[in-house]
Amino acid sequence: MAVLLHYVPGVLLCVSLYWEQLFTSPLNQRPIIGVLAVETGEGFKRFGKSYIPASYVKILESAGARVAPISTELTEAEYTELFHSLNGVLFPGGTAPFQNSRFAEISAIFYNLTLKKNDEGVHFPLWAICLGFEELTVLTSGENLLTTTNTYNLPLPLNFTKDALQSRMFKYFPKYLLQALQVKPLAGHYHNWSISVKSFTDNKNLTNFYKILTTNMDSEQVEFVSTMEAFRYPIYAVQWHPERSPYEWNATWNIPHSSEAVQVAWYLADFFVNEARKNSCHFSNTTEEEKALIYNYPPIYSGNISKFEQIHLID
Ligand SMILES: *[C@@H]1O[C@H](CO)[C@@H](O)[C@H](O)[C@H]1NC(C)=O
Ligand SMILES: *[C@@H]1O[C@H](CO)[C@@H](O)[C@H](O)[C@H]1NC(C)=O
Ligand SMILES: *[C@@H]1O[C@H](CO)[C@@H](O)[C@H](O)[C@H]1NC(C)=O
Ligand SMILES: *[C@@H]1O[C@H](CO)[C@@H](O)[C@H](O)[C@H]1NC(C)=O
Ligand SMILES: *[C@@H]1O[C@H](CO)[C@@H](O)[C@H](O)[C@H]1NC(C)=O
Ligand SMILES: *[C@@H]1O[C@H](CO)[C@@H](O)[C@H](O)[C@H]1NC(C)=O
Ligand SMILES: *[C@@H]1O[C@H](CO)[C@@H](O)[C@H](O)[C@H]1NC(C)=O
Repeated sequence: MAVLLHYVPGVLLCVSLYWEQLFTSPLNQRPIIGVLAVETGEGFKRFGKSYIPASYVKILESAGARVAPISTELTEAEYTELFHSLNGVLFPGGTAPFQNSRFAEISAIFYNLTLKKNDEGVHFPLWAICLGFEELTVLTSGENLLTTTNTYNLPLPLNFTKDALQSRMFKYFPKYLLQALQVKPLAGHYHNWSISVKSFTDNKNLTNFYKILTTNMDSEQVEFVSTMEAFRYPIYAVQWHPERSPYEWNATWNIPHSSEAVQVAWYLADFFVNEARKNSCHFSNTTEEEKALIYNYPPIYSGNISKFEQIHLID
């Protein structure tokens, strides 16, 4: 510290931003994020039982993480073992029932383990997108409070709440990008279910757990939550799809591809992967690590039959 005192005040300010990191354990520069596989629906059934769109893998890789797919076919003991080898988990979008599906069961296991691990003092982040976001509201409230909205294939600007700019998710975004997010339709919505602001604020389990960061209004005047983060846990959720802007190109879908939309995707990924760098969990050895990684499931081209350019077939 004595050395730093010789520097100009601006540098000291800069150092104080990273004060916490300087005096805690060093960051883990090799984070591995688990991504839940989703059961194949109509379009992909003939390929196998579950898949992960490659865009979720690429967005995490773009920010310096590797991905381990989470199969739909493990036992609870195997999920638990895998969980403890990971540095974070992502619940992706897709189509699956919120209750009584493998997606619901497996996300419940990983959600519970995430809470427990953080309660034990390990910083273990969870990022939920679209279906993942909706599932989180079910997991945290213990019931399905979702309503239908007219938000299918619709890019929108975000309405930020009062304290969103001080949120962990957004506070390190460049100012010009936050301004762009508020006025330009950079956030792509592709969902029929939402948690309305009313249902959210009427439920104590949700209001005690999450801070609403952004909301949107649909064409039927239903105001719904579009971004939220947990107060006491590194749990982050977007109802929209940042990963599609840089990586999905099917022209029948209205996907924002501007430089700003792509930057939003990267800043969110960078934020989340940095959260995952804050724990040092790891596989028991490199053989186990290699077996678990997504590289064992090379992507196949699916751009001519679906909204995804590439998918990884998992089970
Ligand atoms: C998760 O935790 C909740 C609350 O403790 C419990 O009701 C539920 O059964 C747990 N689910 C799983 C899959 O562990
Ligand atoms: C939601 O809150 C009620 C009490 O208001 C509680 O009994 C219930 O366990 C909570 N559910 C979850 C999933 O935390
Ligand atoms: C959402 O609704 C649209 C029509 O409004 C329908 O075409 C689409 O299949 C629905 N999507 C899902 C995931 O249910
Ligand atoms: C933002 O909120 C206002 C006021 O509720 C609403 O009129 C507007 O439609 C919302 N904008 C978007 C993009 O959802
Ligand atoms: C790696 O770990 C696994 C499981 O803990 C163990 O079975 C295996 O023998 C280990 N391999 C090496 C090369 O250490
Ligand atoms: C889609 O592309 C794949 C790979 O190029 C090809 O094998 C398949 O026949 C195509 N399917 C359709 C329906 O065009
Ligand atoms: C685009 O997506 C639609 C449905 O989401 C799909 O039917 C179509 O095959 C996809 N590919 C192209 C090139 O349109």
